[in-house]
Amino acid sequence: MRKIQFFDTTLRDGEQTPGVNFNTKEKVQIALQLEKWGIDVIEAGFPIASPGDFEAVQTIAQQVKKMTVTGLARCQKKDIDRAYEALKEAVDPQIHVFLATSDVHMQYKLKMTREEVLASIKEHVRYAHSLFEKVQFSPEDASRTEKGFLLEAVQTAIDAGATIINIPDTVGYSNPTEYGAIFKSLIENIHSEKEITFSSHCHDDLGMATANALAAIENGANRVEGAINGIGERAGNTALEEVALALAIRKDFYQCETNIVLNETKRTSELVAHLSGIPVPKNKAVVGDNAYAHESGIHQDGVLKNPETYEIITPTMVGVTQNSLPLGKLSGRHAFNAKLEELGYQLTDLDSKEAFKRFKRLADKKKQITDKDLIALLADQSREETEAFKLADVQVQYSSNGYQGAIVSIINEKNETKVASRIGSGSIQAIYNAIDELFQQTIELTEYEIQALTGGEDAQAEVRVTIRDEKTKQEFRGIGVDFDVLQASAKAYVKASNRFKTTS
Ligand code: KIV
Ligand code: ZN
Repeated sequence: MRKIQFFDTTLRDGEQTPGVNFNTKEKVQIALQLEKWGIDVIEAGFPIASPGDFEAVQTIAQQVKKMTVTGLARCQKKDIDRAYEALKEAVDPQIHVFLATSDVHMQYKLKMTREEVLASIKEHVRYAHSLFEKVQFSPEDASRTEKGFLLEAVQTAIDAGATIINIPDTVGYSNPTEYGAIFKSLIENIHSEKEITFSSHCHDDLGMATANALAAIENGANRVEGAINGIGERAGNTALEEVALALAIRKDFYQCETNIVLNETKRTSELVAHLSGIPVPKNKAVVGDNAYAHESGIHQDGVLKNPETYEIITPTMVGVTQNSLPLGKLSGRHAFNAKLEELGYQLTDLDSKEAFKRFKRLADKKKQITDKDLIALLADQSREETEAFKLADVQVQYSSNGYQGAIVSIINEKNETKVASRIGSGSIQAIYNAIDELFQQTIELTEYEIQALTGGEDAQAEVRVTIRDEKTKQEFRGIGVDFDVLQASAKAYVKASNRFKTTS
């Protein structure tokens, strides 16, 4: 059977989702989970883009042992040098060089002729190959590139040393018939003494990213790129979990194998959802909460008689935990650590001590602590550790007739406690006004969402906010989970504000 390699770009293209900015610690956490999930190649970032990106790629390159680690670079020497610096300690480094080849990109964005583009590919792929054994080249906007020129660009990259050719459907314009045909034609027409890996990279603007990736595989691609939960630029990338399950469930049709550990799928999805602040829609294929729920009587009856009547994927196959052992107030350290291990966490002693303290505080208020509660608690803890400003206290004075008042205190990066009090027409507005004062910021709250994290009347509240900086038009997201709605709202806003502060 053919082996399909999985290339994850959650930390690069996925991070291009508006409002998503992972810090290095979060990136490492995601990378280690991706390694467990069985990813073959991780695109850890775009090293020249910022010092933060560089640091994250370098740290991941140092920590990851099984996956190939790659970083993105434009066709520019300084990008390639920076990628080399970041990746040189990786066990298996790879560089990903790209240059646009469609007429519209060359004419308006690059202002380069076809000849100049070919010369640049030759020069920079060759340079990249002098530093890296594994060079991947992407002709950006390949699916809208004139076919003859696409073949020329790809052949130029191969002649200069690239052994991996990625074909991006950059704007999500293609369809499975067309996109598959591009692979078939390139594979039939390129010349190379070395084995060339063809890779797909699709965006979901027309909702065809997964179908296009599968069409590429049917037509000879041996590598598929995408992001967890399909996050990414605009409508996002191919959702890798969908491709993984399609290949597994329809092995009879695709006749392919992968290294993906299917029962780590749900956990990987939840981690990315928590750290990115982008929730998984309930009806999302493979990882949505409703993907395994059967509502109609006829369906329920069928599933009770034989699950195969309406269930092509079983929840256990993707690691949907049944909460077989929820924790409670009386659970001790041992049970708590065993649960963390079952959920796939490997915490340092210090982190697990802090997590246990937080767990005990929550267990005082909530009868049963479910897996979701724990995942949220750990995500909260890891975010807070890296925040410059930490929420210390929130007090609200409520009046059913008029303005509300809030007093908020935070601990700043110098470990000083700062307090501000403000009013607002609602309690949350009063809290947010006080936080704005503490951060000395003028920003716009563009989204506020609240939902219960689990069922039950003692469920924790999960609040998601997006704030927008009118000057730069940049957005920042934050999630707060707490037993109390006002506290969860304050946590979410402090998180988003920390992200704004570190970027501005
Ligand atoms: O969508 C795209 O074209 C990309 C390239 C940089 C590969 O993300
Ligand atoms: Zn992309």
